[in-house]
Amino acid sequence: MKLLFLNGPNLNMLGIREPDIYGTQTYTGLEQFIRGFCRELGITCELFQSNHEGELVDAIQAAYGRVDGIVINPAAYTHTSVAILDALKAVSLPAVEVHLSDVSAREPFRQVSYAGMACCKTYAGHGFAGYRMAAEHLLALKNGVIGGAEE
Ligand code: DQA
Repeated sequence: MKLLFLNGPNLNMLGIREPDIYGTQTYTGLEQFIRGFCRELGITCELFQSNHEGELVDAIQAAYGRVDGIVINPAAYTHTSVAILDALKAVSLPAVEVHLSDVSAREPFRQVSYAGMACCKTYAGHGFAGYRMAAEHLLALKNGVIGGAEE
């Protein structure tokens, strides 16, 4: 099982940016957390963070035929990027959307998720744990424990 973990703009500023919303742990801490649970679950992981929409599109395209699934926190591009939605649809890999904060309880402009339209599941408001929940979901999907079209 190989998963790509994608993180969008400003997530490299974790620990500094709005700690009341995103917590005090850094992006390096998030990387360590992801690598740790992947080791535990027997998942091979690739991690990529970018502040640039096109680089995220490139990373999704490059995942085609190479990974079993994508865990994506598109950050602000969640609410704006048809290009990321189209890239996820193009590669047609199982994808799960993650948000550290509970976007459903925030500003109206955060209520739309384009990327989410190509994802089989969303975890929002669970902090770092959401990434693990997403990986476990993709693992269960691959192992046939759960079906594909539940959400
Ligand atoms: C976020 C939520 C987005 O609305 C915001 O633009 C982010 C982070 C989250 O993880 O909670 O940058 O994706």
